[in-house]
Amino acid sequence: MSVLVTGGAGYIGSHVARLLGRDAIIVDDFSAGLESRVQGLICEHLDLASVEAPARLEALMRAHGVTAVVHLAARKKVGESVEQPEWYYSQNIGGMANLLTAMRAAGVQKLVFSSSAATYGMPDVELVSEDLTCSPINPYGETKLIGEWMANDAAKAWGLRHVNLRYFNVAGAGWPELADTAVANLIPIVFAALKAGEQPKVFGGDYPTPDGSCIRDYVHVLDLAKAHVAAIKYLDDQVRPHSTFNVGSGEGSSVFEVMNVIREVTGQNFEAEILPGRAGDPPKLCADVSRIEKTLSWRTEANLTEIVRSAWQAIN
Ligand code: WQD
Repeated sequence: MSVLVTGGAGYIGSHVARLLGRDAIIVDDFSAGLESRVQGLICEHLDLASVEAPARLEALMRAHGVTAVVHLAARKKVGESVEQPEWYYSQNIGGMANLLTAMRAAGVQKLVFSSSAATYGMPDVELVSEDLTCSPINPYGETKLIGEWMANDAAKAWGLRHVNLRYFNVAGAGWPELADTAVANLIPIVFAALKAGEQPKVFGGDYPTPDGSCIRDYVHVLDLAKAHVAAIKYLDDQVRPHSTFNVGSGEGSSVFEVMNVIREVTGQNFEAEILPGRAGDPPKLCADVSRIEKTLSWRTEANLTEIVRSAWQAIN
């Protein structure tokens, strides 16, 4: 039972692949993924948005008896998507279209799709439920919502069985060698500032939240990877009442709270510089995780301190 993991050499993908073990077949263009994360696994260097992708993906699926796909390969920088929307559509939507074409041709009918909380945009609710109307506010979030629509259309057209996992804020390291090397999110950005002897920055201290800083729902990457394994098992069930699940802790942590945990874990009593808020940052984005807990029997195991500690230990 082989599982094709697109983006499998990436930070999150390599954690999923590690849990799957030798059943994982890796597809990655290695623009961000690392060979070192997937040593010993079958790897295909491929840009999913390339012209040759459908034929090469179909051949790979047939050659290895692939029965399910976990699709993580995508561009995922919000700011970059605003500057280069055409590239994001080409990569994320074009890549998804090529993957679905190959799956249909190869007769592979199970898909776990890496979606995002960015599909919600700036919801004005305490906890975000999957039933909330999605209103993404940047091309990255739009490409993730369109990817969900594409999977739904394939389900109607030829019986694709799929699950959309809407990630909230992923951090930590399940294994040090699989740590997040992209300094693109709060925790790794603060670590990089500390290592450079620079002052970490807080984007906005006067939001309508208890301490004035933004609240997010942080989930350990290993817990997230386990949700993918649970989703693959769920796709074998004959009746599946849901196809979309939030993946988060259900608990919100403010930027100031994260900074305090980083002080505890690193032992560095740093001061953070408070700057104006970023355009497009919702004051609070926290998951209602009742559906995934009930349907997939999945819940987070690691708390914020364990998330931060595993990330810090991985780079020291
Ligand atoms: C978190 C909070 C910043 C850096 C992420 C991913 C996105 C999607 C949704 C998966 C925000 C603040 C940050 C800094 C700060 N995930 N911040 N100082 O914006 O919630 O989006 O989750 O699809 O891909 O990017 O994550 O880590 O950028 O920011 O104060 O130096 O930390 O304003 O409130 P975000 P983030």
